[in-house]
Amino acid sequence: MASLDRFRVTGGASLRGEVTVTGAKNSVLKLMAASILAAGTTTIENVPEIADVDIMSDLLTRLGCTVIHTKDSVTIDVPEKLGYRADYDLVRKMRASINVLGPLVARIGRAEVALPGGDAIGSRGLDYHIKGLEALGAKAHIEHGYVIAEAEDGLIGSFIELDFPSVGATENIMTAAVLAKGVTIIENSAREPDLIDLGEFLISMGAKIQGLGTPLITITGVEKLNPTTHVTIPDRIITGTWAFAAAMTRGDITIHGARAKDLELPLEKLVSAGAIVTSTSDGIRVRMDSRPHAIDVATLPYPGFPTDLLPMVIALNSIAVGHSLVTENVFESRFMFVNELIRLGAQISVDGHHASIEGVPELSGAPVEATDIRAGAGLVLAALVSEGETTIDGAFHVDRGYPNFAEQLVTLGAKVSRE
Ligand code: UD1
Repeated sequence: MASLDRFRVTGGASLRGEVTVTGAKNSVLKLMAASILAAGTTTIENVPEIADVDIMSDLLTRLGCTVIHTKDSVTIDVPEKLGYRADYDLVRKMRASINVLGPLVARIGRAEVALPGGDAIGSRGLDYHIKGLEALGAKAHIEHGYVIAEAEDGLIGSFIELDFPSVGATENIMTAAVLAKGVTIIENSAREPDLIDLGEFLISMGAKIQGLGTPLITITGVEKLNPTTHVTIPDRIITGTWAFAAAMTRGDITIHGARAKDLELPLEKLVSAGAIVTSTSDGIRVRMDSRPHAIDVATLPYPGFPTDLLPMVIALNSIAVGHSLVTENVFESRFMFVNELIRLGAQISVDGHHASIEGVPELSGAPVEATDIRAGAGLVLAALVSEGETTIDGAFHVDRGYPNFAEQLVTLGAKVSRE
């Protein structure tokens, strides 16, 4: 069973070589969900081979779509008449399932989407999503664990100010407002590159959207959208993971297909840790010759330091020269995996949203467990700089976000196997 898989890593290798970064998970899942806004055949390219794409395919199939997933593209045939229910068994496996909420209400006037519940990184509410849809005229309530949203007579454009620039809420509101009557303004909207990708996808379907990449998005509703073909942007979190891997292992990795502009702050931080980061013709190269210097980081919505790279920065600081303070501002309990790093000999103390880290020259291999995708990747990086052998249980978490992670690590010279 895949869920019992683990990685076995023998530390000590410097990672050297080339990798190619695939399409962004956090973008492609949202693009797939938004495809239901238009009847007909939409094709999404540069799709990573990860388990979550299959879960989203299942969800769309249950709504009545025909989904064909070839190696790196997904073709979604969206019927005129769609179902409206996203069941708990799929939503609990993958939170991005809630991204069908906005499109369903906009297109067919009804959605029943299971509440995702909490997960390993925090409670992750849906209140902004629901308030946003209500502002557009939908009636929403929660019944038997489902959000039920209705707008039989269609949605009406509105002014919506978010208390926090939530990525998911901005996406659900934007994908609903594209078919609403009139103008919607989202103030304090998210600015993540994935959200810009979704906006551009919608524009290619015929939507009218202005202000993508700024905290003020203006959407003028249209009556109907058309199917489209779209190429997903490269995954900035995988890019960042490789960049941290190069810096931590004193390696030299060229990352083809990477977009440095989506990762300005993490790359600047790596430079202050001592890495040499250069642009290449189609990506970036990250080199490191010495032990990294500790870096202070506070996660924030884009363009701030991404919360998804928090485990990587804590792993780097664990073996850095000096003391560092890392603050998590997006999720309430992302530090669970710190206990696993401590099992490897890291010197970390956590106080609320802050982790205080005293770097040690080397970690020491031990069995550990991944609790979510990014924690899993961070633990693999820590294992690479641990003396001896580390096993990381819960490899399936990592599979959700990193296509062929172990194989790619081996290509770069790491001693990693999967069992
Ligand atoms: C978040 C990240 C995103 C990352 C993704 C996957 C941010 C701002 N967002 O997006 O970059 O790719 O995880 O790991 O870094 N919240 C509410 N009520 C709501 C919606 C959100 O209270 O209705 C809170 C959440 O609990 C959380 C914060 O707002 O504390 C950010 O949430 P949000 O951006 O919506 O999360 P994701 O869309 O999952």
